[in-house]
Amino acid sequence: MTEPISGFSKLTKEDKIDWVTSHYTQNKEQSIKILQTYWNQNSNIQQLHDEFIENTITNLYLPLGIAPNFLINDNLYAIPMAIEESSVIAAASKAAKFWLKRGGFKTEVLGTEKVGQVHFLFKGNFEKLSSFFTYLKPKLLAESVSLTTSMQKRGGGISDIVLKNKTTELENYYQLHATFQTKDAMGANFINSCLEQFASTLKNEATSYNGFSDEEKNIEVIMSILSNYVPNCTVRAQVSCPVEELKLSTDLSPLHTAEKIIQAIKIAQIEPYRAVTHNKGIMNGIDAVVLATGNDFRAVEAGVHAYACRNGRYSSLTYAEIEDGIFKFWIELPLALGTVGGLTNLHPLVKLNLEILRNPSAEELMQIIAVAGLAQNFAAVSSLITTGIQKGHMKMHLLNILNQLGASDLEKGKLVTHFKTNTITHHEVELQLNLLRK
Ligand code: MEV
Repeated sequence: MTEPISGFSKLTKEDKIDWVTSHYTQNKEQSIKILQTYWNQNSNIQQLHDEFIENTITNLYLPLGIAPNFLINDNLYAIPMAIEESSVIAAASKAAKFWLKRGGFKTEVLGTEKVGQVHFLFKGNFEKLSSFFTYLKPKLLAESVSLTTSMQKRGGGISDIVLKNKTTELENYYQLHATFQTKDAMGANFINSCLEQFASTLKNEATSYNGFSDEEKNIEVIMSILSNYVPNCTVRAQVSCPVEELKLSTDLSPLHTAEKIIQAIKIAQIEPYRAVTHNKGIMNGIDAVVLATGNDFRAVEAGVHAYACRNGRYSSLTYAEIEDGIFKFWIELPLALGTVGGLTNLHPLVKLNLEILRNPSAEELMQIIAVAGLAQNFAAVSSLITTGIQKGHMKMHLLNILNQLGASDLEKGKLVTHFKTNTITHHEVELQLNLLRK
């Protein structure tokens, strides 16, 4: 049986690899070879990756692709997307091309407010805590000046701090609920540093506050942390066209197409089982660009899904309607992103991807990424209400199946041609490959 190890993080990379491959893999030499295959040949780049995290043994890479032809507010973009799912970039590109001829995407940032909270326990009278907070607030701001000066120079900073009484839900529980503007930074470090300073000022000031009893002076800070729920850091992206221009297939009239899309969206608005998959498709587009631009996709995912159930039921992030003969399709979602700091200046590929996007501000990136989500949803819903999803999906997945089966380039070429007119299933691909080899 494998024994626990202590001091693993202090081992050299080679020793870590030696340990993990000998204790947890069947074929140590082969495992080491695989790990090394994924090392970057440029030792500086590899060292950069090694130092992003602890205990790095190699890199796990995802394909990075480009979805071209996105017309956003009359500017043309080629969007870099990092994703392993075969049909995502093809779907995004198809939707981009469709809307390119119909005026493109229009976008608008609705807000950029970020949130952080100091969660604390106070045993005492709320009126007194309220008066104390009035006395405390200027001190909270003053004592965090060294943290906020450079952010303020860039036009950001602390927007407000309010005291929230949460005692009806949890005994003695209060918050300092703070809002921030972080300009082009995602802002996590800035916000968390401010919050930790607030917590320290809160505790110190309470201890010496004359209006408090001894028990009231003893405020207990439970934690200070930003929130990834950012319902006021939102963006909207929209496409529209006269209904008669909504021609997606030869089998459906444009009006019927519009009506089916609207019905599909309505289903995702009221039915959580469908809404989750609907939004998952949106996140195929969102996450791929979030990753390509070095942003925190877990933060975005958490915030987006919380927003999707802000009205008490998990619901669609996209909407559709026909108004005066115009079909309108739009998305509204929160996106807390950065185009400076974090990986953005550090990771050469992230830097390049941002350059491909014309070095956007955080607000511009919000708009581009919202468009990627809307395009993805349009492509998915369009397929779902016409041919079904599997036709396009399996077409894109065919090469994965052929690679899995060890097909040569020649065999791949022949079978891709064969399956242009035949239904793709794993079994059928295997069968055809075997026939070819006979
Ligand atoms: C698959 O990754 C995403 C879809 O299921 C999204 C949807 O159903 O809308 C196709």
